[in-house]
Amino acid sequence: MKNQIIKLLKKSANDFTSGQEISNKLGVSRTAIWKYINQIRDDGYEIQSIVSKGYRIISLPDILTLEEIEPYLNTNFIGRNIIHFDSIESTNSITKSLEDSKESNGSVVISEEQTNGRGRLGRSWISPKYKGIWMSIFLKPNLNPVDAVNLTQIAAAAVVKATEELGIKTLVKWPNDIVINNKKVCGILTEMKAELTRINYVVVGLGINVNIEESEFPEDIKDIATSLKIQTNSSINRQELTARILNNFEFLYSKFIDQNNIEASISICRENSAVIGKDVLIINREKQIEANVIDIDTNGRLLVEYADGRREHIISGEISIRGKGKYI
Ligand code: BTN
Repeated sequence: MKNQIIKLLKKSANDFTSGQEISNKLGVSRTAIWKYINQIRDDGYEIQSIVSKGYRIISLPDILTLEEIEPYLNTNFIGRNIIHFDSIESTNSITKSLEDSKESNGSVVISEEQTNGRGRLGRSWISPKYKGIWMSIFLKPNLNPVDAVNLTQIAAAAVVKATEELGIKTLVKWPNDIVINNKKVCGILTEMKAELTRINYVVVGLGINVNIEESEFPEDIKDIATSLKIQTNSSINRQELTARILNNFEFLYSKFIDQNNIEASISICRENSAVIGKDVLIINREKQIEANVIDIDTNGRLLVEYADGRREHIISGEISIRGKGKYI
């Protein structure tokens, strides 16, 4: 109901909409509407009310609800159900509870802040309030579990495309990170529940540092982390960026699921790779091996060449890639 009221008020832009009109259109009492209006105000909307005229919106909040993202969204199913939190431990963790709900494929959980955001390999992920996009996409793909790694590439490609649409060039540090100027602006954590041959569900978690200031990064990650705002010197519209990521994600995900086409995503990752042609360290648990990155193959594996000339196709997983002596 709150959403419908917001929509009605937005429609009449600068004009007042009377309580009676809202009541007639939505079939609820004027007292109920007054209660909803107060809740909407609590969500950060500034609403003027004049007894003889009704209500009108003065300003909209910078929050990532469906109502605020929808004007930019052109998807069929990804992000059409957005579950929004003001604060939560981790969007990836809560998204897993959607397993038993029916209409969950494509649902997206977004929180304005995370109090226990999780990164890869058990690391933590800083997620300050209103400063980034902390979201998880819930999927029930009919895929073999071994192919689930491609969902990370689809997400990476979607982020690169979305930022490109806003005029910001980002690169993919295969397979989970998005970087600008060798610093990380986005990390992807894909988790799944599966049987040997069948996926129950996949959660694709994206953390995008959008409007974080330099001073807000903890000392220990200052050298390797950055935000879109720091890199572009301007605040970015989180609502538009969220929608653009979801739009691109649905396009590339549908290509993969419906047409078995992963090349569309891989070619974006390849053309915007931060590692192809570079000497890197391949870190697999305690072991580190130097290698030169040759390419990303058609299945999304990283083709590397070791010092002895031996070549290997690496599947993402427990492996990390690091530039020699630096992040990338
Ligand atoms: C990484 O680079 O290590 C992956 C970081 C993934 C962070 C996102 S933020 C939204 C989602 N919820 C989490 O707890 N983690 C992911």
